[in-house]
Amino acid sequence: TARRKLIAGNWKMNGLKADGLDLASDLAGRLKGAGPVAFDMLVCPPFPLLFPVGEAIADSPLALGGQDCAPKTSGAHTGDVAPTMLKDAGCRFVILGHSERRADHGESDSMVNAKAVAAHKEGLVAIVCVGETEAQRDAGQADAVVSGQLAGSIPAGATAENTVIAYEPVWAIGTGKTATPDDVKAMHAHIRAELAGKIADPDKVRILYGGSVKPGNAAELMAVENVDGALVGGASLKADDFWGIATAC
Ligand code: G3H
Repeated sequence: TARRKLIAGNWKMNGLKADGLDLASDLAGRLKGAGPVAFDMLVCPPFPLLFPVGEAIADSPLALGGQDCAPKTSGAHTGDVAPTMLKDAGCRFVILGHSERRADHGESDSMVNAKAVAAHKEGLVAIVCVGETEAQRDAGQADAVVSGQLAGSIPAGATAENTVIAYEPVWAIGTGKTATPDDVKAMHAHIRAELAGKIADPDKVRILYGGSVKPGNAAELMAVENVDGALVGGASLKADDFWGIATAC
């Protein structure tokens, strides 16, 4: 099955309005100038930047996503952002269950599941993140941990169109360490097998790798079987680096 690569930039809690506008406009300009490309490109800015960035890239193929959403549509939920609001800002995607959300905000698989249901209701594509810690990998539990996260986080009604999986080994995030291509290959094959019965058309689901993806290692990682793109943190904050990653695949 041919799956089009998705190169997703997770800006995390970085950048002010001028930075975000510069970065997004630069990428949108490169995409426009490049003509037909072999990948989809997505940026996920912090919430306050979604509207200005969304307006700046509205006429470009560069897609917009949120970094989280609430499991509800509206109401008395101070500090939360509804999927309807992401939609309103021009988002087509939302990252859910990133390990930093799981660690900083105690997000459980069932919370991620509820958020994905709410995102799907608005027609957003949920990028569901999974991944083991270093201790779990050392204990030989990586496959089991990821299986549990997939079983708990993927909602009923998930399809290859409305759901993307991102595998991010926690120990590789922001550390400069990447999983070896062999480890990535094994885990992505494991995830693909686990998707059967949980998502319609499991062969068509895009499975992204995340964790210290850089221009220098992107070609090798993106060539691995069942790796259908990247979820990039640090290297998505510089247009040259992010573009370098996208064009390496
Ligand atoms: O969402 C992105 C990942 O957490 C990877 O971050 O590329 O800075 O390691 P990183």
